[in-house]
Parts: sequence; structure tokens; C-alpha cells
Amino acid sequence: MSMRQVRTLGLLGTGVIGGGWAARALHFGIDVVAADVKPEMEEWIRGAVANAEGALARLTFAPLPPKGKLSFTTDLDAMARQVDFIQENIPEQLELKQRVLAGVSRQAPADVVIASSTSGLMPSDLQRDLLAPERLLVGHPFNPVYLLPLVELVGGRQTSAAALEAAARFYTFIGMHPLKVRREVPGHLTDRLQEALWREILHMVNEDVATTGELDDSIVYGPGLRWAGMGTNLIYHLAGGETGMRHMLRQFGPCLKWPWTKLEAPELTEGLIDKMVAGTQAQAAGRSIRELERLRDDYLVAIQQVLREYDIGAGATLRALEERLYAAAAAAARAPLEGAVAQAAAGRSSGALRLLETRVRPEWIDYHGHMTDFRYLQVFGDATDALLRYVGVDDGYRSSGRALYTVETRVTHKAEARVGEPLYVTSRVLEVDDKRVRLLHELRRARDEALVASAEQVYVHVSTAAGKAAPMAGAIRERLAQLQAATR
Ligand SMILES: NC(=O)c1ccc[n+]([C@@H]2O[C@H](COP(=O)([O-])OP(=O)(O)OC[C@H]3O[C@@H](n4cnc5c(N)ncnc54)[C@H](O)[C@@H]3O)[C@@H](O)[C@H]2O)c1
Repeated sequence: MSMRQVRTLGLLGTGVIGGGWAARALHFGIDVVAADVKPEMEEWIRGAVANAEGALARLTFAPLPPKGKLSFTTDLDAMARQVDFIQENIPEQLELKQRVLAGVSRQAPADVVIASSTSGLMPSDLQRDLLAPERLLVGHPFNPVYLLPLVELVGGRQTSAAALEAAARFYTFIGMHPLKVRREVPGHLTDRLQEALWREILHMVNEDVATTGELDDSIVYGPGLRWAGMGTNLIYHLAGGETGMRHMLRQFGPCLKWPWTKLEAPELTEGLIDKMVAGTQAQAAGRSIRELERLRDDYLVAIQQVLREYDIGAGATLRALEERLYAAAAAAARAPLEGAVAQAAAGRSSGALRLLETRVRPEWIDYHGHMTDFRYLQVFGDATDALLRYVGVDDGYRSSGRALYTVETRVTHKAEARVGEPLYVTSRVLEVDDKRVRLLHELRRARDEALVASAEQVYVHVSTAAGKAAPMAGAIRERLAQLQAATR
């Protein structure tokens, strides 16, 4: 059976993880119906989404679809009947999850994937009592779900390939990196690795070898920096010199037999718990959880932007997401551009072209409650991008060492745009020659057609290697000239 395309996500359980899923899905244009047995969770999830917005808004400036809408219900069945994909995030207890999942499976149509955020339970156990159990799988995310792209995808004995593919597609759409786990094992992959580290921490704190702060330093100042871009295996391959992993294993392999690590976890005595709590309180140094979360979110955004430059790890995920968002915006602008070129061929003008539809997103607002200055540049830039992609200035052209650089922008502000306001951009090509193109964009409010702002922009064609102006490809110039004739 082919599974549904996801427009509305249903959340079962709206605690820390449910809140994170909501923020991520809404940001990338998916509506969310959040369901929890406790009515007070509505306020909580709305707060969690608002809290995530600050960091999410800085993650990417690629053109996003309109933000999704959030609704809340305590009626789990009603949620299950109206959504296209269900993500379960209730407490980590097998019997509870089995019962609740079986219940919603009787309401959700069979082409709705049901994914569990479980950190360690097995999908084969979770799907036991389900109606259409083949659509159940584990989609294990990481906190904060709205910033970390990793989601482990694990199928159970009855899970269909179609459900796994549909889940991978949906998670990719909301900016994630689905990691397919080949077979179900308790703890999946990542938590098994994290637990090994944590177990050693507990032993060392228990034996007074080190404090929690010292052990965190042993990662943060060293391996942690490497891990964002390369994992332990590739890093050890580098550590082996020219012969890589083979040499590494010969040299350090014997240490694995030495008693460096312990496989059994220590007893969680009151004394050990006290040491762990006192240690982490000292590390927090009076900062609240909220403050520390903001700090964490800020550096997680910054790191992903750096990694994007290197097209590695989470940065590669971000780059692929942005490429898709730009391509989607360009695809939406294609029809008016094609129509205009056809009109021009028949000697007729089409006037300014409506290239971009958008809505003022909450994170675009400044302290006056209006759309903030740099977002105007972003919106005009998105219209330019769609137009230039159409004439052939796409990734392939750029990777051939040619590009158009902005040399001048003049923005004139005429009216206000408030949060939620639908807007559109119309564009004209005013002038084009061998090395230059001049565009005029106008941003209008959809409700009354009022001109909100206009932007005149000049781009110069460059050879990126030489860092100098250079003539553009003939085909690109010709397309731009057609658009100039069409939008005269
Ligand atoms: N916290 C993490 O770092 C993390 C990371 C990855 C995965 N997970 C997994 O996500 C799941 C949820 O964890 P959490 O940290 O968000 O827990 P949480 O306690 O913050 O949230 C659980 C929510 O489920 C609700 N709930 C309880 N019973 C319910 C029911 N019968 N129907 C609907 N809602 C119900 C509770 O009211 C609560 O809001 C667990 O399976 C956990 O293993 C947690």
C-alpha cells in the first residue's frame, strides 16, 4: 500500500519530545494536531513552539512555505482520524505504548504511518496489537528535535518497506537525516553508544576519579569538536596515519583487552546520585535550564551553518534542505516566466511577473510589530533567485565557476506588513547587457494590493575564480532579454 503524503502531523503526547516535533514540523509548513491526555499541555506546547522559534528562524534563510497551524486536543481518537502521519511521544513504558498505539490504530486509516519516538523499545513489540501493524515503525529523534536532524528509523518484523520509505520522505521534508537501522536492537544505535559513555562517566564519578565537569571537559575540548563533522570511525582512520584504520587497530587494538572500560553499570546508590546532581549543579553555575537551552540552541544553529560550508554531517542535511526549498520556489515561479516568454515571442508584453507568494512569518517581525528590514532583502532575493534559476543560473552554472553578484540594491518602503499578512512579489527585467542585469521587484499586500516596498537591484556577472566581471553565457543573456521584452 502506498502511504499518504503528509500535510498534517498528529502528535501523541506533547511533552519535551512532542513539543520539539511540533516546532520543527510547523516551521517547515506542516499543520500539527497535538493530542495529550492532560489539557494543561496545550499551554505548554504552545510555549515550547514559541521558545524554539528564535533559534529555528536563524537556521536557514531559504524560502520556506507558510508556517503550519497548531491545534490541540485531549481526544486522541479525533486526532488519529484527521492526520496523515502520527508520531507517538508518550512515556517510555511498553504496556502503555502498546495500549495507546493499538487504540489510535483503530481510528487512523491504514495508509497513515504510525511512528514511535521510543528511545529503546523494539518496534516488533510496539506493533503487536495494532490494526495494520505494517505501518508502525520507530522514528527516534534527539533533543532538541527542532534543531538536531538525526532520526533513527527502525522497522519491526511486520513493518512494510512502504511505511519506512514514506517516513524517510516525511522526515527529510522537515529537514531531518533519517538513519535507517538495519535491524532492531534495544537502544537502537545512538543511545547504545551514548549509554556506553554515560556508564563510564557514572563509574568514574562513583570512584571519585573525576567530577562531572571534568568528564564533560574531556569531551568538549577534544573529541566533541571532531564529532560534529566526523564520527569515531573516520577519525580513528585518520589517527592511523597513511595506512589508516588497519594500522590503528594493530597499534591500539590490544588496549581493548586491557581493563579500561567496564561493561556493567555501577549501582545507582544515593551517594552516586548526589555526586552527579551536585556536579551538574556546579557546572550550571546558577543558570536556569531555560538559559542553558538557549545557549545550546544558539551554538547548535551556528555549528550547523559552519558545517554547511563544508557540506558535511548536519551541514550537508541543511544544504540539501535549502537546495530543495530554493528549487520549490523556482518551480512555483516557472509558469508565469514561461507564459511571459511565450507572450514576448508573440510580440506582446505581460507586465510585471508575479514570482513569489509568501506570508509574513512571526520571526520576521521587529519590535514595532512590522516586518523587519533584512527580511525585505530576503524576500526580494528569493524572487531574484527564482528568476535567475529560470534563465539558467542554477547550481550547475554556479559550479562551472560563473555567478551573478549583487552590486547595488535600493529598497523603498511604502506601507507596513504585519504578522501573518499574505504578500506577493512582482518582478521586471529593466536592463540587460553582457555583464549586467537590472531588476525591479515590487512587494504587495494580497488583501488590498497596496505597494509595501520596491527594490531595484543590479547584478554583475562574474567569473568566480578570477573574482572579476565576465560576460554571461549567451543563452542566459538571451533569456533575460526575452524577459525584459516580456515585462516592459
Ligand atoms: N527526552 C528525551 O531526550 C528523548 C529523546 C528521544 C526520544 N525520547 C522518547 O520520547 C518519548 C517521550 O519522552 P518525553 O521526554 O517527551 O516525555 P515527557 O514526560 O516530557 O512527555 C510525555 C507526555 O505524554 C503524555 N501522556 C502520558 N500518557 C499519555 C497517553 N495515554 N496519551 C497521550 N499522552 C500521554 C504526558 O501527559 C506527557 O505530556 C519517550 O518514549 C522517550 O523515550 C525522549
